Amino acid sequence: MGLKNSEKSFGTIAKFFHWTIVLLFIHQYASIAIVEYLLEKNSPFSSLLIGGLHKPLGFFLFFIGIAAFVWHFTNIKVKFSDTMPLWEKRFAQFVHRSLYVSLIFMAFSGIAMSVTGAKSINIFNLFSIPAFREKDKELSSFFWDCHELFAIVLIVLLGLHLGGILKQHILRKDPVIKKMLPHFKSR
Ligand code: HEM
Ligand code: HEM
Repeated sequence: MGLKNSEKSFGTIAKFFHWTIVLLFIHQYASIAIVEYLLEKNSPFSSLLIGGLHKPLGFFLFFIGIAAFVWHFTNIKVKFSDTMPLWEKRFAQFVHRSLYVSLIFMAFSGIAMSVTGAKSINIFNLFSIPAFREKDKELSSFFWDCHELFAIVLIVLLGLHLGGILKQHILRKDPVIKKMLPHFKSR
């Protein structure tokens, strides 16, 4: 399996980016679900989970998202299946690129919301991202609205992404997932 993509399959680097993003993405939503449960129980662990995991891992997602997006553009393009009509290929590409952009903006809005809300971001006690001295109410609530909106946009895009993959698998008997699996040889 090569580091770079081939026309038939993703290479190790793209696969590594994809599955790291998937794991972190699931974590970001799962941590919020747990936080909401803890808040209902008035547990102090909710802020620990946000500050200790959601924020620093979201911060890393910002950079991983950018690196993966740059890699997407600089690498060989993996061809979409021949069983897909042209409009579906174009739509799939639009969904993929929108996923990258939305993911990066989601993480950015989280960082911006904290910083403008006068809350520094502690990255696993290694370093911290400084915040505004005083809270800028307008800006911080603007970024919070963006964070809430993109939480929905990302779920819609993910639904389209997974829907497309399932359609190929079930209706067209075309196992596209193989292109993204670790053991699948690209050449
Ligand atoms: C791509 C990365 C991220 C994803 C997918 C994500 C996802 C989410 C979701 C789904 C919510 C709940 C929104 C709602 O209630 O409508 C949320 C809330 C929040 N996020 Fe993120 N987030 C990400 C990155 C970040 C970053 C980088 C930060 C800050 C450095 C951050 C800080 C927060 C905070 C403070 C909340 C509010 C939690 C509360 O209810 O108290 N997020 N995030
Ligand atoms: C378990 C869930 C997932 C599965 C099974 C999956 C599977 C796949 C497959 C098979 C492809 C290749 C499609 C093709 O070329 O025909 C792909 C590409 C892609 N996936 Fe996913 N995916 C999942 C979740 C996600 C998530 C959560 C995100 C981002 C939030 C994401 C973002 C992308 C992007 C951006 C591409 C395009 C890669 C590129 O061309 O650079 N995927 N995925």
